[in-house]
Amino acid sequence: MMMPSSGPARPTPDIDTSVPHSARMWNYWLGGKDNYVADQEAAEQFQAAFPQIAENARAFRAFLGRGVTYLAAEAGIRQFVDVGTGLPTENNTHELAQRVAPECRIVYVDNDPLVLAHARALLVGAPRAPPTTSTWTCTNPRPS
Ligand SMILES: C[S@@+](CC[C@H](N)C(=O)[O-])C[C@H]1O[C@@H](n2cnc3c(N)ncnc32)[C@H](O)[C@@H]1O
Repeated sequence: MMMPSSGPARPTPDIDTSVPHSARMWNYWLGGKDNYVADQEAAEQFQAAFPQIAENARAFRAFLGRGVTYLAAEAGIRQFVDVGTGLPTENNTHELAQRVAPECRIVYVDNDPLVLAHARALLVGAPRAPPTTSTWTCTNPRPS
């Protein structure tokens, strides 16, 4: 598979921390640190209307952990495509899979350019971080 980010650097969108962003709100519900006051306030408002949201986010994340660990450890999978990655947090797919088998390769896909911008900043220098991230979407599998 061709990796679009291995080519020339492309401009990334500015990250406006004064406007709430759904990926950073999700990060807040997961207990992450990559969110800002605007995200926290919006997340709290959302949670007032839908109190289960933080528990749901953690349950989704736990499922990801169980699934990737099973696939790497029990099923012998060595290549993963993580569609709808969201912001990097603890136990990212490459960390889970490479904990089992360091040779695992992961492509992260998210259609939100802001997620890509955050991911590039947050994964720089991470040991064995995936060399590529992409803004491909599920419905239109062409790099944006
Ligand atoms: C709720 S977050 C999930 C984050 C992470 N997977 C987790 O388990 O914590 C959903 C993510 O899917 C992305 N997304 C939604 N529709 C998409 C599509 N058609 N193609 C790629 N990514 C998509 C959103 O931008 C968002 O970052």
